[in-house]
Amino acid sequence: MLDFGSQFSQLIARRVREANVYCELVPGTTPWAQLKERHPAGLILSGGPSSVYDADAPQVDPDALRAGVPVLGICYGMQLIAHHLGGKVDPGHAREYGPALLSVRDPNALFRGLHGELPVWMSHGDHVSEMPPGFRLLATSGNSPVAAFTDGKGIFGIQFHPEVVHTPSGREVLRNFLFGVCQCKPSWTPGSFIAEATESIRAHVVGGRVICALSGGVDSAVAATLVHRAVGDQLTCVFVNNGLLRKEEPERVLDVMHGNLDMDIRYVDATERFLTALRGVIDPEQKRRIVGREFISVFEAEATSLGHIDFLAQGTLYPDVIESTAPDVVATASKIKTHHNVGGLPPGLRFQLIEPLRYLFKDEVRAVGLELGMPEEMVYRQPFPGPGLSIRCLGEVTADRLEILRNADWVVVDEIKRNGLYRQVWQSFAVLTPLETVGVMGDFRTYANVVAVRVVTSEDAMTADWARVPYEVLARISNRIVNEVKGVNRVVFDITSKPPGTIEWE
Ligand code: XMP
Repeated sequence: MLDFGSQFSQLIARRVREANVYCELVPGTTPWAQLKERHPAGLILSGGPSSVYDADAPQVDPDALRAGVPVLGICYGMQLIAHHLGGKVDPGHAREYGPALLSVRDPNALFRGLHGELPVWMSHGDHVSEMPPGFRLLATSGNSPVAAFTDGKGIFGIQFHPEVVHTPSGREVLRNFLFGVCQCKPSWTPGSFIAEATESIRAHVVGGRVICALSGGVDSAVAATLVHRAVGDQLTCVFVNNGLLRKEEPERVLDVMHGNLDMDIRYVDATERFLTALRGVIDPEQKRRIVGREFISVFEAEATSLGHIDFLAQGTLYPDVIESTAPDVVATASKIKTHHNVGGLPPGLRFQLIEPLRYLFKDEVRAVGLELGMPEEMVYRQPFPGPGLSIRCLGEVTADRLEILRNADWVVVDEIKRNGLYRQVWQSFAVLTPLETVGVMGDFRTYANVVAVRVVTSEDAMTADWARVPYEVLARISNRIVNEVKGVNRVVFDITSKPPGTIEWE
């Protein structure tokens, strides 16, 4: 997929992969000479914010359109096809944004098996006003006289967005392109990925030794399990308990990874060391730096004690490595990464990196985890920040305050799970505020901590909304926290979306 900066680019790739066809995102301007080395069965040109006539508009290499490989241009991608093959694009006087009705003129190829009138989602200013010579019309819509076209030889353009849920037949349109036009086989499955990945890890590692840091999260767990499947005892995992994990977390991780999967795991309880380093610190960024720094020294000491190690396995995912062409996306993405990667390992380490998940999206990592036999509880865990509870314990991080936070958090997650909401929301957790308020319990006046409850829905953590948790569930959470957690007498619920808020409080 050639990415021209659409906010939906990753979604298109995910939709293709959901159809069990492998798809990679590359910058839209990648020359055909490079593209062809990957032997694509087809090319998809994404949408994008530019206008084809802009001086700095990203252009497709025209050779890619003449190579005889099937092409599907979506929105801006369609306009690029028109522009490069002799058609015309008009600046939009009537912007078309939102739902539209597509009238299909040709029920073959892309629209095979679909109705003549399809609800679709549009989001464009410009539109194709004149088709290139030799092209024919496939569909129209209210504001797009040419809403879909083809050259009859494998090049297609569509003005609407098949990847979004608001285009109910979008998956069918994509499948028609993948299977009908490109002749792809639906062979990209968790099983085929595992077979290929283990094979390539084996070939790479040969007799070397691999180390992997388990964080307790799904990514590092799946990465370690894959490497373990490939090279068995040549892998040693290190699990550092930084004292900032949730209740029963260390036990659970050890149980799954050690008990079920029988890996060689070095468990290091470094709680004291982390808490000492965090003593008196209240600035969140400083907390992050300290946790990152301490982690690296503990991990390095452990690695050194293991003797010679050749490789470091990490659970890096595809969204972290995709090169995007949209400047604002690059800017935001990189900012968010420096902010979040402080808990990671520094570059220039003495190991070679193995990143078996670097071409997978999160939902694919989960599918691979399940296929590897990992328990659902581990596979569907919500994201948890590297600096752990230190950034949910506002103000000073002490053993006592962490204990209060852990117990309150336990109640939140327990109730969310009991009510079947755990997998519907992105994250659900408690925050210990630095506030104390007055309350009354029995005949006593109390002066105790305020706990905030944060439950958000999200697709990718870049934006989020507060989850509309039913009142009864909130009531139970509040009631249980105040009753069960010593030191808390008030519970508040965070109703801020992101932006302007962030998911975490620090
Ligand atoms: P924010 O709070 O920025 O969080 O909306 C977005 C997502 O990132 C997680 N997060 C972190 N993850 N180290 C991490 O590994 C961090 O320092 C960090 N801060 C936030 C957060 O839990 C959410 O999923």
